[in-house]
Amino acid sequence: MNTPPGRNVIALEWLQFGLGRLVAAAAEQGLTVHLLTCDRSEYLHELSTVDSPHLVVHDVNTHDVAEVVGTIRRIGDVAGLVNTTDSWSLVALAVREQLGLAGQDPACVRLVRDKARLRRFLYEHGLSRVDGAPVTADDDATALAARVGLPLVVKDSAGTGSEHVWLARTLDELTAVLPESRRRNLRGQLTAEPYFLGPLYSIETLSWEGRTRVLGVSSRVLSPPPMFREEALGFPVALPPAMAKDAEQWIEQVLKAVGYTEGFAHTEFIMTDHGFEVVEINPRLGGALLGEEISQTLGINLYATFLDLVLRRRPALLDAPLTPAHGAAHARLYAPRSGVFLGCEGQETLTGHPGAPVLHPALPAGATVRSVAHQDGCVAVLFATGATSELALQNALSAAGEVHVRMEGDGRG
Ligand SMILES: Nc1ncnc2c1ncn2[C@@H]1O[C@H](COP(=O)(O)OP(=O)(O)O)[C@@H](O)[C@H]1O
Ligand SMILES: [Mg+2]
Repeated sequence: MNTPPGRNVIALEWLQFGLGRLVAAAAEQGLTVHLLTCDRSEYLHELSTVDSPHLVVHDVNTHDVAEVVGTIRRIGDVAGLVNTTDSWSLVALAVREQLGLAGQDPACVRLVRDKARLRRFLYEHGLSRVDGAPVTADDDATALAARVGLPLVVKDSAGTGSEHVWLARTLDELTAVLPESRRRNLRGQLTAEPYFLGPLYSIETLSWEGRTRVLGVSSRVLSPPPMFREEALGFPVALPPAMAKDAEQWIEQVLKAVGYTEGFAHTEFIMTDHGFEVVEINPRLGGALLGEEISQTLGINLYATFLDLVLRRRPALLDAPLTPAHGAAHARLYAPRSGVFLGCEGQETLTGHPGAPVLHPALPAGATVRSVAHQDGCVAVLFATGATSELALQNALSAAGEVHVRMEGDGRG
């Protein structure tokens, strides 16, 4: 007889939002979520709204595999471990291995989290039209441009949050980008790849036993290049049926090729004039409020799927009807400059705004914003709905415009 699964679900850190929904799903099934975190303030919004005996928070150095393993052993009666972030994806693999917990295929996670290897792999498998190349220590602009072609993107092979991505359209731009990128403290290595021209989207999928189901495509509003800061997102994009079919077949082929057998995937891609090009595959659910958007539009609690995955049973979502009742979107509010963030003003004016906008804080008042060039400078995320994702996006952007971000020294504090 099989031993019954444990009652404790380990969350090795979490995305900024969605913990509340996970705990609600766990409570329904008599499970308890144990959040292991090295910084509770990351979950400020969620922790202030969740009050449940089905959530226990443990302050742990989550970058230390031995400490994480020790904590999980002390918790005991463990069903499994969920990882939803890029930053802890490799720690999660090591911890699972030491504790003998099932989960995503380590080789696949390592491949997709190495953007340089992934680009080459896709190229070699006929799933990308172009190859990239590592940036070597003695590369100058001319040598690198000769290998990769212009325009190109230089980026951190293990980057996240749109930090450490540089666009160079000309040799002069590349000459400036190289020393700048080499000065940075990277998670991985510098790699270069051709710049794909066109709008960015992402496709959200769930895989189980090698089969992949598409949950929907989300649109992106980005700040103008050379910055690639995410400003807003809408879900689900209404693709014409033939295009939706193409996207579905394409992502199934891509995920199959990289050996993606289970779990959510959040694949960013560019719709170029020559077809879809993968920008990156995140072996997790999409960030910000995407999980909330999928849940609300499809009328489900998406986070219950994590429990199916942890308990090693076929996720119910694979067979559930996926008919969006409406669209949803979010717009990010950024600090206007680096400095001390004091709070958001004007939320009261949102009452009566179409799309029932809700402001979700991302940083506490008093936090220091170090950079506004990437997602770390985001102070709040504004959620709104609409009859379609396009209308929801308009509602979110309009409502975000009504909110003012206050900073120390801006003469109003
Ligand atoms: N080869 C590329 N062509 C066009 N845009 C790119 C390319 N690589 C990255 N970008 C842009 O930069 C953003 C961040 O790059 P990405 O690889 O997704 O890093 P991160 O893991 O930080 O999100 C992408 O969302 C996309 O807008
Ligand atoms: Mg990205």
